[in-house]
Amino acid sequence: MAKKLHIKTYGCQMNVYDSERIAEVLAPIGFALTDTDEDADMVILNTCHIREKAADKVYSELGRLRKKKNQKEQTGGRMILGVTGCVAQAEGAEVLRRAPYVDMVFGPQTYHRLPEMVARTAREHGHILDTDFPEDSKFDSLGEVRTAEGATAFLSIQEGCDKFCTYCVVPYTRGSEFSRPVAQVLSEAQNLAAIGVKEITLLGQNVNAYHGLGNDGSDWSLAQLVREVAKIDGLERIRYMTSYPAEMTDDLILAHQQVAELMPYLHLPIQAGSDAVLKAMNRQHTVADYKVIVEKLRAAVPDIALSSDFIVGFPGETDADFEATMTLVEEVRFIQAYSFKYSARPGTPAALLESQAEFQVPEAVKAERLARLQALLNANTLDFNLGAVGKVYPVLFDRTGKSPGHLVGRSPFMQAVTVEAEDHLLHTLQNVRILKAGPNNLHGELVQDSLKAKA
Ligand code: 5AD
Ligand code: SF4
Repeated sequence: MAKKLHIKTYGCQMNVYDSERIAEVLAPIGFALTDTDEDADMVILNTCHIREKAADKVYSELGRLRKKKNQKEQTGGRMILGVTGCVAQAEGAEVLRRAPYVDMVFGPQTYHRLPEMVARTAREHGHILDTDFPEDSKFDSLGEVRTAEGATAFLSIQEGCDKFCTYCVVPYTRGSEFSRPVAQVLSEAQNLAAIGVKEITLLGQNVNAYHGLGNDGSDWSLAQLVREVAKIDGLERIRYMTSYPAEMTDDLILAHQQVAELMPYLHLPIQAGSDAVLKAMNRQHTVADYKVIVEKLRAAVPDIALSSDFIVGFPGETDADFEATMTLVEEVRFIQAYSFKYSARPGTPAALLESQAEFQVPEAVKAERLARLQALLNANTLDFNLGAVGKVYPVLFDRTGKSPGHLVGRSPFMQAVTVEAEDHLLHTLQNVRILKAGPNNLHGELVQDSLKAKA
């Protein structure tokens, strides 16, 4: 009988991808995924280190799991507890010190070695700490065969970051930029299409800095890669995230115009609307640079929708700096955005600034700025959603709805759309007329006479 594996994933889509691949690595040695940690034989936390809160969650979750592990041991069983992801990479030894009952701590670059780690924990009942950055990429061992289910899938094509924004831990936890070779990416994408995937999101911490080795020996850009992926039979939609403004090339913008499969939606974090703050963040772009990119994108694809990330309360951010962020948001009208209070991360340059009293933004000010920004961003999202009413969108149904007889899918602009539809339409692309819109969801009806839906 298969042993039960439960993986709990925090943070970004790259972790979601890694968790799927971890399950694939463990399947051949007898572990089958379950969606609960109840009675699990192995529980893995795939963690995020980006903000303090995210990292803290791991330790409270480990405390809870310790009890389950003990219970299982009292009844003669065993629960192997693993921690991976960016907390493991950044503070692996600390994890073992604070939670010595954890069996395996491994980084995002070493999980292809899991079968060996599992065998070792079984033999030695000791702790394993494997947070190397191995010479050989994990992708070479993992291969390109995938077992993803459903109509949409993530595909990591690039990892790491060389940008060193002063607030960010990613360059330390995920290392320097690495791009998978083109042939490997294409083969994985073909594989996914062959098992029924219709939409692929190409992932990278800095995905538009992709520069993978092409079949012709030259480095390929993301634009080149997207054009090739689009040729794969059965793939109807391509997305990519997360992009860095200074890497938004004209060729990639042109690809948005020319490649029908490339969705008219782009997540392009700007972080702040003040040049002084962007400079202190070591972002290699100004507000004006960002606006030029937006203009070019809109000239190429008039209906392209943008989303973004924002940090408020960065050390030294003044009221005027924050108002500049509000102005930028008014101007660009993002349809979606994530916004966060600045969180000092150990070892980053901004944390040093934050340690000087004159740079600190008081907590109450941070909270007030975040509330104002989020109210504005949410209003923009709602406006955009209301604007969809009456329009017909192609929707890729990727799950069943909460009420029976309903399916939920995504519009080209990532909006969740609920429709009354029969189950056999799950995992298909259908034209939907939008009837109703709320802040987080659209409702629509199938357009029966649709021939073939395309964005
Ligand atoms: N504090 C707050 N937000 C952060 N982010 C990254 N580092 C921090 C930090 N130290 C945000 C950025 C990034 C997103 C993934 O998380 O907005 O784009
Ligand atoms: Fe972090 Fe900046 Fe790299 Fe994004 S670009 S991962 S925010 S350092």
